[in-house]
Amino acid sequence: MASTLRRLLRTKPIDEIVQEGGQGEGGELRRTMSLLQLTMFSVGATLGTGIFVVLGEAVPLSGPAIVVSFVLAGLTALFSALSYAELAGTIPVSGSSYSYAYATLGEIIAWVSGWCLMLEYAVSVSAVAVGWGQYINEFVGKLFGVRLPEVLSNPPGEGGVFNAPALAVVLIAAFLLLRGTSESATVNTIMVFIKIVVLLFFCVIAFTAFRAGNLAPFAPMGVAGISAAGAKVFFSYIGFDAASTAGEEAKDPRRDLPRAIVLSLAIVTAVYVLVGLAAVGVLPWREFAGAEASLAMVLDHVTGAAWPSIILSFGAVVAIASVVLTVMYGQTRILFAMSRDGLIPKVFQRVSARRQVPTANTLIVTAFVGLLAGLVELGRLADATSIGTLFAFAIVNVGVMVLRRTRPDLRRSFRTPFFPITPLLGVFFCAYLMIKLDSGTWTAFLSWMALGLVIYFSYSYRHSRLASQS
Ligand code: ALA
Repeated sequence: MASTLRRLLRTKPIDEIVQEGGQGEGGELRRTMSLLQLTMFSVGATLGTGIFVVLGEAVPLSGPAIVVSFVLAGLTALFSALSYAELAGTIPVSGSSYSYAYATLGEIIAWVSGWCLMLEYAVSVSAVAVGWGQYINEFVGKLFGVRLPEVLSNPPGEGGVFNAPALAVVLIAAFLLLRGTSESATVNTIMVFIKIVVLLFFCVIAFTAFRAGNLAPFAPMGVAGISAAGAKVFFSYIGFDAASTAGEEAKDPRRDLPRAIVLSLAIVTAVYVLVGLAAVGVLPWREFAGAEASLAMVLDHVTGAAWPSIILSFGAVVAIASVVLTVMYGQTRILFAMSRDGLIPKVFQRVSARRQVPTANTLIVTAFVGLLAGLVELGRLADATSIGTLFAFAIVNVGVMVLRRTRPDLRRSFRTPFFPITPLLGVFFCAYLMIKLDSGTWTAFLSWMALGLVIYFSYSYRHSRLASQS
């Protein structure tokens, strides 16, 4: 019994983790990413479906106080971001919170964390792809007056059979990823630039019709409404930590990873608060109820012309595609790290000699993500993503506290300020938002975790590389 417990809590030596960085079967990953690329990579993973679709669901909960909900969700992200930054600067490898947990809290927690990351990455890509499908339909519909029939653009349960556009964007991203990281990073930087410009375009037009009177009453549903909306908009913050999955492809990970994480969160928060304020300043908050392409709706209202919302929809299509690209990339790198540790089969770490990318891994992820995107509704996918991410973030916050105790000697290129208050607040905020999610989401989450534990005990526990060393 005691030895089983010891095995479950075995940790991976940090020096070994750092040393093996980038190594896979058949080759190494290339170190090509600069601070700008890493920051853009995180912003690319974050600014996506959320901001373009979330207001329709969140504003009816909070009223004009949506701005506060964005700050609440941003704070939750910030405390965890600081913890991510500290761990990314100490253990600069590709596995994100999975690797951090393995070094600090033990194998079983690392597994749980890696399993949650599949919600944060793979399932969120599916959610984001569904949002992309809606916007491409909106864009093509407005521009050419043609729309895909419902059966081909909705999942079962929402009047459709299969969501074909959502699958299409997953396939495009897979194609780019299979061509190699550096091309993907460049494409991503351009796309991020476009989407920031488009969101600023939205703000500029919306502010011309801003009426302070729309902001009163500011919080019609009180604190409960603000926090419920906070849990909804949290989805739009997910992804700022994406740089932590690219540690082994960063030129100077110790210096640049923490900076990229904090910088990207700052950029995204500023954009969201601005967009939120512009939107509720233009339209009375009740009019957001049920709106699908909510930002496009605001623009239609302000200008009465179609072209601004066509430009916006184009931006949304670009924005969301870049999220699909970066987050899918992140998922393949996490699986890469887990496979290298023997917790999942070796096929996930096979790097192709020609392109230096994990080809089979990328194809498997594509199939998983594509199926979910085609068959499940956006709301379900988004809430499952949020709950898994919040749990993974909580683990990272705990990891920072544990590592400060167990390895105070390690070189840390970034230290979380106000330790231990910051990571403790991180855990608290994550738990608070998790509680705000509904019972269906909790059932899905607990079932997913149970499945993960079955796989761990039937496969990973025995195949773990640490097991063969001990
Ligand atoms: N933050 C990502 C989005 O909003 C998941 O699409």
